Formats: sequence, C-alpha cells, structure tokens
Amino acid sequence: MKYGHFDDPRREYVVTRPDTPLPWLNYIGQEDYFGLCTNTAGGYSFWKDSRLRRLTRYRYNNVPYDLGGRYIYVNDAGTVWNPGWKPVKAELDSYECRHGMGYTKITGSKGGLEIELLFFVPLGRNEEIWKVTVRNRSKKRKSPRLFSYQEFCFYEALNDMTNYQRTYSIGEVEVEGSAIYHKTEYRERRNHYTLFACTRPIAGFDTDRDIFVGIHEGLHEARVPSSGKCAGSKAFGWNPIGAHEIDLDLAPGAEESFAFVLAYVEQGDRPRFEKPGLINKELGRQIVARYAKPGAVDAAFAELGRFWDDLLSNFQAELPDEHAARMLNAWNQYQCMATFNLSRSTSMYETGIGRGMGFRDSNQDILGFVHMIPARARERILDIASTQLSDGTCYHQYQPLTKKGNAEVGGDFYDDHLWLVLSTCAYVKETGDLSILEEPCGYADREYRIGADGRRAGAGGEPAESLLHHLELSIAYTMRKRGPRRLPLIGHADWNDCLNLNCFSTEPNESFQTAGVVGNSQAESVMIAGLFLHASREMSALYDFMKRPEDANRMLAQREEMLAAVESAGWDGDWYRRAYDAAGKPIGSKECEEGKIYIESQGWCVLGGAGADDASGPSRGRARKAMESVHKLLFTPKGVLIQQPAYSTYHVELGEVSSYPPGVKENAGIFCHNNTWIHLAWCQLGHGDRALEYYLSICPSAKQAEIDLYRSEPYVYAQMIAGRDAPCYGEAKNSWLTGTAAWTFVALTQGILGIRPDYRGLVVDPCIASAWKGFSATRRFRGAEYKIAVKNPKGRCKGVASVKVDGEAFDPVGAAAILPIFPAGTSHRIEIELG
Ligand code: BGC
Ligand code: NOJ
Repeated sequence: MKYGHFDDPRREYVVTRPDTPLPWLNYIGQEDYFGLCTNTAGGYSFWKDSRLRRLTRYRYNNVPYDLGGRYIYVNDAGTVWNPGWKPVKAELDSYECRHGMGYTKITGSKGGLEIELLFFVPLGRNEEIWKVTVRNRSKKRKSPRLFSYQEFCFYEALNDMTNYQRTYSIGEVEVEGSAIYHKTEYRERRNHYTLFACTRPIAGFDTDRDIFVGIHEGLHEARVPSSGKCAGSKAFGWNPIGAHEIDLDLAPGAEESFAFVLAYVEQGDRPRFEKPGLINKELGRQIVARYAKPGAVDAAFAELGRFWDDLLSNFQAELPDEHAARMLNAWNQYQCMATFNLSRSTSMYETGIGRGMGFRDSNQDILGFVHMIPARARERILDIASTQLSDGTCYHQYQPLTKKGNAEVGGDFYDDHLWLVLSTCAYVKETGDLSILEEPCGYADREYRIGADGRRAGAGGEPAESLLHHLELSIAYTMRKRGPRRLPLIGHADWNDCLNLNCFSTEPNESFQTAGVVGNSQAESVMIAGLFLHASREMSALYDFMKRPEDANRMLAQREEMLAAVESAGWDGDWYRRAYDAAGKPIGSKECEEGKIYIESQGWCVLGGAGADDASGPSRGRARKAMESVHKLLFTPKGVLIQQPAYSTYHVELGEVSSYPPGVKENAGIFCHNNTWIHLAWCQLGHGDRALEYYLSICPSAKQAEIDLYRSEPYVYAQMIAGRDAPCYGEAKNSWLTGTAAWTFVALTQGILGIRPDYRGLVVDPCIASAWKGFSATRRFRGAEYKIAVKNPKGRCKGVASVKVDGEAFDPVGAAAILPIFPAGTSHRIEIELG
C-alpha cells in the first residue's frame, strides 16, 4: 500500500508518508478531554464540548486543509524542520506516523537527528501529553533547538472565530517557569484556564503569535524557529499562543526525552487569585510536578495501553477474513468509542460548532459501545432521554457541556424518539439491569432539579418521570402521529435528514432541516413504520422480561396495526416504498421517474419483520423480494446506493435530498450507515454469502487496494462513498463520525457472527459465508467469558446443529443457541457446529 499499512498485533495503522490523499485523523482522549490529531500533527483540543470549551485553535478548510496543531519545530544548525513534516514541509530523511488506540506517535528524522512525538491523554485526566524523544543518530555532537507551538482558543469556539472586535482585545497569559497559563476571560466569569508546560527546563518562551510567527508570515516560515531564539513575548490581546524553546546538546548516539503538558484546569472552590491579577496556580503546579517525576509519562502511557487491551478484550475474534478480523478486533470498536464520545460534533468534517450530540445519532452509537463500558452507556441514555419533551417530541441535538437541547434546530424529526427504545433495550440485554427503567429522567419542558444523589426530581421534589415512561411515550407518539394511510408522519425528516417533505423551500437562505411547517402535514414515512415494527417488538420483549404480559401484548397489538399499514400502503410490488409526500404521492415507487427505490425502507421493513416467509396472505415472502430488488437495483461492488435513479433536478416537494448532485450524499451516494441494515437483513434471511460480500464492499480495510480513489482513512468508516452516478465513484468523504461504526459492529457481531446479547442469555446464531470453515470468538457477557468456537464442516451459512458447553452436549433452543448466563468471573468453552 502506497501510504501505509496495518500493524495488527499493535493495533496501529502505520502511515509511511505524510502526503496522504487527505489528512488522516486519529483522536486522543477517552473520557472528557479530547484532541484531534492528524498524521502530520494537525488538530486541536477541547474539554467535553468542542464548541463551549475549545482549548486550542484550528482553522477549518484551511489551505492546505490541515494546518495548525501540535507543532514541534527543530532548528538544527540553521536547518528548520518538523518531525511531522508540516508546517515547514522540509524534506525528511524518514517519516512514520502510528495511529494507535488513544495515541498517535509521529517519528521524523533529518540530518542524523531523529525526533519522536507521542501524543495521548492519560486516563481519567484533563490534560494531554506530548512526549518528545530526541535521538542523535549521527557521528557528531549536535545542539538542536526545539520549539513547541500551539495557539490558544478562547473557549467558545464560534465567538473565537468570528468576533475579532472583542477577541483581539481580551487575550491574557501568565508565565511561571516552564508553564504558560492561558487565562483569557478569567478576570470576569471563567473559573478555569489552560496550562501549557514542559517537564524540563526551558531556554525561552513566547506567547504572542505576532512575535513567534510574524504578521505577514505563515506557520511554515514562522520567525522564531527560523531565528533560533524565543523572544520572551507576553501576549496582551491579539492572539496568545504557547511556545517553548528547548536547547539540547547531544553526544553522538545520545537521546533525551521530556514532555509538554497541555491541561484544562477548573479551579472549583479554590481561591481564584493568589495576588491581585495573578491567578491561583496551585493546580497547574501540581500537574507540572506530576509529569516531571521520572517515569510518570511512561507509566501513564502504559496504563492507557492496559485500558484499551481490557476494553477490547470484551470482544475478540479469529475470523477467516483478515479485513473483518482487524476491524472487529481493533478499529471498529475504537471508532465506536469515538462516535459514542463525540456523536457527530467534531472531526475533519464536523467543526465542533455545528452539531452537538444528536438524539438519534447518540442512541445508535450506544449499540456499538454498550458492551465496552455499560455504565457510561447508562448515563448517556438518561441524558439523552431528558432532552425529550413531555409530548414525546425530542430535541434533535444537545450540547454535551450543558446537556440541554439545542433550540436553534429544535425537534420534530419523527424518528428520533424510537431510537431511544433501541438503545435502552440494548443496554438491558447487555447488562440485565432493569433498574435503568425506573430512573427518573424527566422531560426537557418540565422543571426538575438534580439531587445530591445525581438523580433528577420534579421541581417540588416528586420523582421525575422514569425512563420507562419515556419509552412508552415514544411508542405512543408514533401511534398518535400517523397520517391518512395510518403510516407514521415524517415531520422535518426521518433518519434521512434530507427527505424534507414539508419544507417546500425556494429560499436559499433557509435551512432544509428546520424550514417548513410540519403541523398539519400529511407526509408519511414507511421507514419510520419499519423502525416502529422493530421498536414495538423490542418493547414487547422487554415487557415479557419484566413479566408484564399484558403490556407485552399491547405492544404487539400496536405492531400488528402498523404492520397492516406497511403491507397495504408500503408495498410497491417489488420492494417497499419509502414515503408519501405532502400531496399523497408515493416516494420510492415504480411510479416515480427518479428515486424509485430507497434502501432505508427495505432495511427497516425487513428487520421489523414485514414480508416474512411465515406471514399469511399476500405479504408472505415480500422481504426476500425486496432484498432481491436491492441486489438488482442498488448494490454495487463499492457498496449499496441509498436510492436510484438519482434525482437530476431539484424537487421542491422532496427537499435537500434532491439538492445534491447525482451520486453524492443522500442523492444516490453509498451512505455507509444504512448499508449495515441491509447486511443485517441478509443475515435475517439466512444469506451469509451476501452478508459478507456486502460487508466487505464498504469495509475501509479492504479499500487499501484503491486508496488513491477512496482517499479517506482505511482504518475507519466514512459517512459516504460516492455512488456510480458521480464522476468520483468510490471516493469516500466525512470519515469517523458516522452511525456506520456502531451499526457495522452490530451487523458483524450480531448478524454475521450471530453473537447477540439477549435478556435470557447469550444467543449464538451465526450467518456466515458458506466458504468459511468456522471461526472463534471470545465474548465477555455479564461478567463471564464465553470462548466460542464455531465449525462449519458442511459449508452452510446458517443453522446451529449442535452445541457443547464446557464439553457437555447442550440442547439448542430452536435454530439458535441461547447460552445460559454464567456467574461473573467464570470462563466457558462453547463449541458449535453448523449443519
Ligand atoms: C446532510 C445530512 C446531515 C444533515 C445534518 C445534511 O446536509 O446531508 O447527512 O444529517 O445535513 O443537519
Ligand atoms: C447524518 C446524520 O448525522 C444522521 O442523523 C442522519 O440520519 C444521516 N445523516 C442521514 O441523513
């Protein structure tokens, strides 16, 4: 591969040249403090919320795209360069970037000097480390000077990048020893600051960008690194930066290591000032001292490694396919953590000021994360639920810092609430913890207070409505909001944000997402109907588990009602229709000239159980027929197209979907997220060969062979791959923050490998490619370890013929094996034969 390769044993992607087809990103941080880090050390950092607590600056869509970040400049006897190539872009003698689990290590060398940079966020901490190791590989003594550089952000990122009449006058710093304290706005309402320090003595510093870089210079020709000497500038207004000068003296073969620490510090109840005008630096000094201790940085890094080993050990597998194996064992789960933490807020394509946490997005992200840290999934579910309103509407997005719904976007996306049912059921299946259902979460429009125990209660102290109440409300909301064909109304849009059937926008200055009146609309969504079939069945199973058969049956009765609507108004003859527009015309139908067939309703109607083989009457077998239509009309070797034929013109009655040029995004692109529903649907139908073929068609690891076309990172999913109507068919865009991560994990582990948590135990019901001779997997479930070995001597796709548990024959229930829940801490051998 031209740009790099996987190092599977170390769970690293090794980039071997810096000029990748796009900046290739990694994240550092796993809990509250996060940073973006590209393969040339570009990126920025924030705490919890990249809009409200942005710590360092980054200019999106810069020229080049990725410029600004965690830079180390070297001045080695007048030659200036960066180990990560940018921004100087001096030719390097060697370059390597290893993106790993929670860290990025970049090593560059030039003229006999090798510099290794390791970036990571220690566990449980609100700071990042830049460990620097300098090696003199030459035969001569060397006295290089190193300069650290990053630019401080004034926390509120939108204001920071727009309101210069103010920001140019408020920047303030203090310097104490090697520590630079960024304290803009601390004098007024902030009780926190940013610290940038070095663990070794420094030879100088700068905090004023105009001095360090210059007024007319770019980062590639910054003045101080070229001159070889820091000026000791103190920023007053304009643009504060943090830069240190480190003067080294290295004998041939010698090496030296030290670290920079960039920290977000909240003062809490401490006195805010130590002297008038001077901030209390007690916590900052403690942080510097912590990492100045010999071995502290390495110990923190080793702890991070153990954390990831442990987290990933919840699910590991040996598979006949190397792409599926490496994605499952490392990168897919790793991406699930990123989407769980960041939703759709912050990447190379999401600026951190546009969207906070998405309601539907975050619920889906939980599906790929809950097996790793269920306690965090629990907390997230409750946070999301409390952004629902008491009539069932949901805030479409919320800010992670305040946990409050985002009023600019509002609600009325009529699928949102149903995803809460899916995330909650996934959590209960994984953990068996029914107590979450009783948690008081309250509604966004009801006053509540948070008690000392962290629980929400009504304003008068009465318990706030429970999570179960939210789930009931969600189901009831869809039942209530139905249109003339008894299908769910769509609101601003459903999962497909671009199907804006009530928007009718002819005004370029308005947003497709929020324009239009949804109140009296008749536009209906078959996709939501399919999702409801699934969600109501999930609710019914949950009630069964709770031993509430009447409620379980009530859910099934509502499901039957919806199923009848799907089969009567949703079927088009060869596939399921997508929707009905506001005038009552079908969308995703043979009757349409363009947009005849859509993927989402095939996925959700089939997964929801419509058109089943055992159905009575005309709907029997429709699921298979719909999926064959997908294969014929939407499948390509590069993934399944979202719809066909692409819209060639703008349709005012359809909205944003028809605004994109044919072949990209929702207008007939390969939208990876919904491909995974099709993977699951093939598994449901027992078609393991198709499931694997489709899985591999969008698998990033498998894209290495055509990477100059694909362009995005080959180790994580992108939201979209251009479809065949586009001139750049096969090019991926918008990597990292996509629901594809969680859903692919579900499709591979629960669909193809068939290992799925259930209320009653762990189900194993694989649906593999007939050529697979078997596979093995280790799955931790409710504290016990299941070491599963599946053999496939007869070349089947599906069907468990025999099961042994710890060497003893075990009677499978039906066609699947439901393994018992074992005591926590025990380990069990499961042998399964397909036949
Ligand atoms: C994109 C969608 C996205 C939406 C978010 C649209 O422009 O095409 O994929 O979900 O914006 O607001
Ligand atoms: C991206 C959004 O984050 C997601 O919520 C939506 O479902 C898809 N785009 C499809 O429009």
